[in-house]
Amino acid sequence: MNILELKEKKGNYPGVVVEIGFGHGEFLHYLADVKLNFLIVGIEIASKYFKKVMYRMLREGIPNVVLLKEDARTVLYYAFEPNSIDEIYANFPDPWPKSGQKKRRITNEKSLRLIFSRLKKGGTFYLSTDSVILKEELLEFVRERGMEIEKRSGSPFPIKTKYERKWQSSNKEIHYFIIKKSDEDNFGVEEGEVIVTMPHVVVEASKSFLKDFIGKFKPFEKKEKGCHFKSERAFLANTEDEILIPILINEEFINQRIFVSLRRKGEEYTLKLYERDKIIVTRCVLKDLYSIKDFILRNFEVKIVRGNL
Ligand SMILES: C[S@@+](CC[C@H](N)C(=O)[O-])C[C@H]1O[C@@H](n2cnc3c(N)ncnc32)[C@H](O)[C@@H]1O
Repeated sequence: MNILELKEKKGNYPGVVVEIGFGHGEFLHYLADVKLNFLIVGIEIASKYFKKVMYRMLREGIPNVVLLKEDARTVLYYAFEPNSIDEIYANFPDPWPKSGQKKRRITNEKSLRLIFSRLKKGGTFYLSTDSVILKEELLEFVRERGMEIEKRSGSPFPIKTKYERKWQSSNKEIHYFIIKKSDEDNFGVEEGEVIVTMPHVVVEASKSFLKDFIGKFKPFEKKEKGCHFKSERAFLANTEDEILIPILINEEFINQRIFVSLRRKGEEYTLKLYERDKIIVTRCVLKDLYSIKDFILRNFEVKIVRGNL
């Protein structure tokens, strides 16, 4: 499932719970059994675990669980509005202990603000961890905001995950935290904008347009209003009637490598995204398409025929 499909599907359920980093999926199974009326959203960044659990869920035909292979922060930011999730679970998230890895931690300030912004008022975040760093970061976050936190030394749940078994068998201390979002809490993280319609523009241009484009287009790097773009050279695709421009786009809670396509059909050329299904069309992706359209209009004799860009 992708972010657009999830946005649509979650509207059909009275409640939503999310598990971040489901690993081998034991906890997702437990949630599916006990939260029958809820949509259960499992998010896992590692393909290996994602595929394994997906095949098992498909075989077993569990209807109320959906899985996404993504960074959990991307899904929380782009698929969920503020105050929309009943419960969020993170069981033994990766500790990323080095100081340079702080931005990856689920307990850094930015990640926690995102998590709590997505919870409904009265919703709950459950975190279990053996990591002292994650524990300390979480405690500092809640202390600074005067939030209430319940700390337990034993699991609140009747099942154990793989990492829980692992750390218990090596006698590591495990911390279980339960934090309820109060009615007053406000974490100020708005919903990430996702564009649903396929952005494209069709132009009429000369026969040599694609070759001329490659000659004129220079790779660029620029930062603008929260978007960081870095392009490579434009190149002619195998079919010879299409140019692709690889562009790295870094923005809030997502980094994507997109290919912008310029494709000939007769006298007409269409500017759009290559492999649209694999891209989350964010504000910055759209901005990038607009800037390439502007580059075309500024440098070539073309006539816009149709499109929505
Ligand atoms: C230490 S394992 C714990 C797995 C499982 N929850 C358990 O308790 O056995 C951490 C898991 O989180 C996943 N993960 C790490 N960062 C993530 C992120 N930003 N978004 C989603 N999953 C992530 C990892 O791929 C890994 O499967």
